[in-house]
Amino acid sequence: MKKSQKLKLGLFLSVVCLSASAVAETNTAEKAAKPAHGEYIDWRLLSVSHRQDSKTLRAILGNETAINAARSEKTKPWPDGSILAKVVWKESTHPNWPQAIIPGEFAAAEAMIKDSKKYAATGGWGFAHWVGEKLVMHEEAKAKECFACHVPMKDNDYVYTFNALK
Ligand code: HEC
Repeated sequence: MKKSQKLKLGLFLSVVCLSASAVAETNTAEKAAKPAHGEYIDWRLLSVSHRQDSKTLRAILGNETAINAARSEKTKPWPDGSILAKVVWKESTHPNWPQAIIPGEFAAAEAMIKDSKKYAATGGWGFAHWVGEKLVMHEEAKAKECFACHVPMKDNDYVYTFNALK
């Protein structure tokens, strides 16, 4: 092989290697940006909400026990075993229809878990959040903070959401 040919081959190989590593990096970045979702991903919808102050969209979902209770209007109180999920996204606009506000970046997934005995101190609800796919209970101080803001809804078993699919 001539010297110039060797040089060309060398250049060609380094370009191939560089682009391969660039692709690998993009894939890792995409994976890091994509959140892992908890089991709520298969749950059914209770309602949606839009917070104008924090510019976020929320879907409120329920596990099987919660949805069955909501469908039969037996939510005062919600039965033990009910879990409500509030999945939050920053608001974004649709690229092809800017008048439409759609979910943008994933922000958080919070939960309320009904166990009237275990969580008697906070209205029978345990307050938690999903860290990736794992449901993690909030510490006592944080749970009390969550509960305090849900107290005005005492007559609705501390739940803000009304079933939108009646
Ligand atoms: C400043 C008041 C406030 C605080 C603090 C608060 N919430 Fe809420 N929460 C609301 C309101 C208002 C709604 C209904 C509207 C919405 O956000 O979708 C709600 C809804 C929810 C729902 C859906 C069921 C329902 O009640 O409608 C869950 C689950 C939830 N919150 C969990 C939590 C958890 C967990 C915490 C603590 C980390 C928390 N909340 C703290 C005000 C609050």
